[in-house]
Amino acid sequence: MAQSLWYRYYRTDVIPPFEYRQPFEGVANCVRQETARLYLERRDMRVSSDVEKVAAIRHELPPVQQYVYLNTGSNGPLPKASYIALQNQALREWQEGRTRAQQIAQVVEMQEAARIAFAGVLGCAPDEVALTHSTTEGINIALMGLNWQPGDEVISATTEHSGGLYPLFLLEQRYGVALRMTQIGVAGLDPVAALQHALQAGRRTRAVILSHVSWSTGRVLPVAELARVAHEAGALFICDAAQSCGMVPSDVEALGADVYACAGQKWLCGPQGAGAVYVRRERMGEIQQTFIGTTGIETNGFVEGQLIGGPGAFVPPAGAKRYEALTLHPSSVLAMTASLEWLTSQVGWEWIYRRIQELGKYCYQELRKVPGVTIHTPAEAMAGLVHFHLEGIVPAKLTERLEQRDVLIRDVGDPAVNRVSTGFYNTREDIDHLIDAILAIKREPC
Ligand SMILES: Cc1ncc(COP(=O)(O)O)c(C=O)c1O
Repeated sequence: MAQSLWYRYYRTDVIPPFEYRQPFEGVANCVRQETARLYLERRDMRVSSDVEKVAAIRHELPPVQQYVYLNTGSNGPLPKASYIALQNQALREWQEGRTRAQQIAQVVEMQEAARIAFAGVLGCAPDEVALTHSTTEGINIALMGLNWQPGDEVISATTEHSGGLYPLFLLEQRYGVALRMTQIGVAGLDPVAALQHALQAGRRTRAVILSHVSWSTGRVLPVAELARVAHEAGALFICDAAQSCGMVPSDVEALGADVYACAGQKWLCGPQGAGAVYVRRERMGEIQQTFIGTTGIETNGFVEGQLIGGPGAFVPPAGAKRYEALTLHPSSVLAMTASLEWLTSQVGWEWIYRRIQELGKYCYQELRKVPGVTIHTPAEAMAGLVHFHLEGIVPAKLTERLEQRDVLIRDVGDPAVNRVSTGFYNTREDIDHLIDAILAIKREPC
């Protein structure tokens, strides 16, 4: 008899029992051992050679062993520690319920640990981090929080992702905000000069929104310079960090961005539905709360039963937590922290950034040798995304035919191109496989 769906999802024999190995160290040290014991496996990645290190990393990431996995730009692979955290938190909730005071306190601690872990990657204070469900949520938090007036202007680019663009369309429809679209992100165009030009052409630019790494061309933008130019014109700089956070150094202090909206599920190898947004402390007054919930109010106007300051008067919390109105999924939050902890203390950021870039360059160099390939990513400003077009085949078709050969890339944008993501866990052999597969597809009849 076929197993019911219920059985497949609820069978307990596949769930490992709780196991305590080592206390959780690293960025989330402040979390009590009770939470820490959920991290089961601690494999030391600080081994002697890169070859051994890459092998140890790949051991934690089953999909990269099964496929030539070159699509972190869509979703990165989940490390084992993250999967175990997801599974164990779900098991705890199922077995123990979710209502005891200690369990509620644990959820609060898990969120604090996640903010600390993100702050470690971003080089900011934990109270400048709000946990979100996605990059798009972070961008909406920033954009919808500004007090827009008809005739206000925003500058962005046609190369931006819908996660950044569609909230702008909403601003235009709802508040009459004028959008000034540039080509920033396209290879061969000076992004700083293009922004200066757009700012000069406008009169009331309140915000500039651009990606740190373009999803559609792979270009790494000089965010520090762009943010400086935006600030000189009195505009906020909002950065879509979906493709950058985890791919290139994301020190928000050095970058100067006011808002940096991150995805958990891509280069940070976290689960879907977990992300974070950095909001510079000095900008929190300007970026108001759009949604508000229990954690959005510090004091609510009642003092010893007396209403002071009038009905509805309240003081928001000092930090970015004020923007977290939507309930977060504890398993995902815990798994996100597990991924960040693994990347930070087991793999190492410097190594990650260096390797992603080296593999990106190798991919660029090898793809360029393939007859009929045109590269759309600028060699002088690239990291882990390589965009290309292969003559004679529609990009979506190439993605499909590569997938039939277990090579995972994707097609993006308009005009469409193919995109390769080089993760820190990839190898030169993965890229050689990609090239061989493209050459084989070229030889096949259409
Ligand atoms: C540049 C960019 N921004 C935003 C998004 C949307 O991300 P999320 O699903 O985290 O909102 C993506 C997803 O691919 C992206 O590449």
